[in-house]
Amino acid sequence: MQLVVLADPEEAAAAAAERMGAAARAGGHIGLAGGHTPRRAYELVAAASGIDWSRVDLWFCDERCVALDDPESNHLLVAESLLPGAPGVRVHPVDGLAEPDAGAAAYAEEIRGVTLDLALLGLGEDGHTASLFPGSPALQERSREAVAVVASKPPPNRITLTLPVLDAARELVVLAVGSGKAEAVSAVLSGPDPRYPASLLPDRTQLVIDRAAAQSVA
Ligand code: 6PG
Repeated sequence: MQLVVLADPEEAAAAAAERMGAAARAGGHIGLAGGHTPRRAYELVAAASGIDWSRVDLWFCDERCVALDDPESNHLLVAESLLPGAPGVRVHPVDGLAEPDAGAAAYAEEIRGVTLDLALLGLGEDGHTASLFPGSPALQERSREAVAVVASKPPPNRITLTLPVLDAARELVVLAVGSGKAEAVSAVLSGPDPRYPASLLPDRTQLVIDRAAAQSVA
């Protein structure tokens, strides 16, 4: 992993937004992270200029099995923070209300044949990324593009893109900020280890963090 340490969460968000902006300006497919951390990056790229969003497709690297407008949905996060500044963008939501395996199968079919130009991902304190959690059978998935998982982080039912799809992404950025992520960052940088799923991402992955999240890095 390529480590990029910024002074604070705002600078880390700006660095992630800069990479999203570059991918969007080139036109293409962008996989989005969920959770809390990426909201500021989405706001910043939504305010960026010179992007023809009609040339961009937005995908979800994972989604919670809830309604699109549910406060827990990653879609709502994106709708509130990114979409207001992305006119004409094509959004590919996950059907979070379908039976999870059926929702995953439908998303797998929709993304089949698509190579992400950029996959933006987060990092959990346990080392998970997207909804690829430690000990999950999803970590062994090699054929399906998306699967349903039962997560240790609420809400439990989720749909996640699988490692083969993330591995194939042209650019990968993992954004993590705050001291709470420091142990996970250190573990992920120690080499591939299924106990820390983000460590299974390809070497070219950029780990974009702030100083607080870097505090355990040797
Ligand atoms: C999700 C995410 C997940 C997230 C990490 C970090 O839907 O929960 O995609 O992988 O990125 O759990 O979450 P925070 O940014 O909230 O710490």
